[in-house]
Amino acid sequence: MSTTVVLGTQWGDEGKGKVVDFLAEHADVVVRFNGGANAGHRVVAEESYALHLLPCGIIRSGMVNIVGPGVVFDPSVGAHELDLAQQCGSLVFLDHSTPIVLPVHRALDAAREAAAGEGAIGTTQRGIAPAYSDFWLRRGAKLGDLCSPKAVRQALEENGYFDELVAVTRHLGFTPQMAVALGLSIDPLSLEETVAWCVQFASKIVPCLADTRSLVRRAISTGKNVLFEGAQGILLDAFHGFRPYVTSSSCTLASVSQTFGVYQFDHVVGVAKAYSTRVGAGPFPTERSDSFGQFLRERGNEFGTTTGRPRRCGDLDLPALKYACRVGGITKLAITKLDVLTGIDDLTVCKAYEVHGESDFDSGSRTLTETVLRQVRPRPMTCPGWTQELGGLRTYAELPLTARRYISQIESGVGIPVRFVSVGPEREQIIWKD
Ligand code: IMP
Repeated sequence: MSTTVVLGTQWGDEGKGKVVDFLAEHADVVVRFNGGANAGHRVVAEESYALHLLPCGIIRSGMVNIVGPGVVFDPSVGAHELDLAQQCGSLVFLDHSTPIVLPVHRALDAAREAAAGEGAIGTTQRGIAPAYSDFWLRRGAKLGDLCSPKAVRQALEENGYFDELVAVTRHLGFTPQMAVALGLSIDPLSLEETVAWCVQFASKIVPCLADTRSLVRRAISTGKNVLFEGAQGILLDAFHGFRPYVTSSSCTLASVSQTFGVYQFDHVVGVAKAYSTRVGAGPFPTERSDSFGQFLRERGNEFGTTTGRPRRCGDLDLPALKYACRVGGITKLAITKLDVLTGIDDLTVCKAYEVHGESDFDSGSRTLTETVLRQVRPRPMTCPGWTQELGGLRTYAELPLTARRYISQIESGVGIPVRFVSVGPEREQIIWKD
């Protein structure tokens, strides 16, 4: 029996899908516990899959997959992925109390971003913040309501809930053109259309409803291997990230505990790319706006899986990684996309931050905030690169010495061992490190 949690340790897009797929080989149950359809988990197996809402285990025949109450669920995305699960022969359980992301949430997200102008966060416009706001306001529709159209309507009408969302969305200047840009198939401001929209997914979703907290508890107590799949990254965490440039869920180990009541884990794997990327606005100390950033974007195919946006690229940031590992509860690391760095003579890595003359800001014990991050001066170090293509290598010893040194720098800079190194997108392109 083991419980393993996989978390992103940067700004999302670290390659968690690939690592989860690899670890799922030995899992009985895969669980999504946070975020929504803002995630884009790419898995390359027999085919290439881009999953947004259901766990990556859905592509494995016979796998049990769970979506917990801490996820916000867009049924239009979920229905599509449920079809895929069925084709792949996997099982899916969705929690009764998982909040539903409505078209009006997406409209509100887009309207807020447009109204914010220069101050926009750069959200994925998947309605994530509005849906989580409603959860904390103790209102809104949940998946269990799909059992009856009456329950959906009641949830939307209660205390003028839907009307209020519409009024705010209108007030922020939402236009029909925005609805088209969002690809919405209905008028997000119409109650009737929204109820009908929800109900159309009921036949797919209702048979999957369950008390997932009990399921997870039972799986653990009966000795199953349970794998928890995090979405986004710890640097985007609503508490520990750099507000306001964060997502609206918790992306740390605490999120699993908070939503499933599980407090003991055997492995907490932090996934980090061998360099840094982020999408959306906000401080990014090691960003490279030069030709090297462009090189990383092209070589690493750094374009959003969910939105297609070009990602901002930069050097590996060890202080940020150290901070993320501490606040996120990470016990081991998986380094992805090491192969992208082949052919660079000298690799630059940020080994420390200088803040206001303090030459070695200790991110292992201090709090990083948006303000601090804007003020830091990255202290770079140079690591010699390698020329060998890594995609065909399968053991750690085969990696060029300088690539192994690069990994050692990560381990000593962060203080956490690296256990896996990914050298390409395919399932078998991952190396165990003892
Ligand atoms: P939201 O989660 O759509 O509200 O977006 C808030 C911030 O998180 C924006 O900067 C997004 O680009 C970022 N974000 C959300 N999900 C992901 C993800 O899966 N990968 C990378 N960035 C993400």
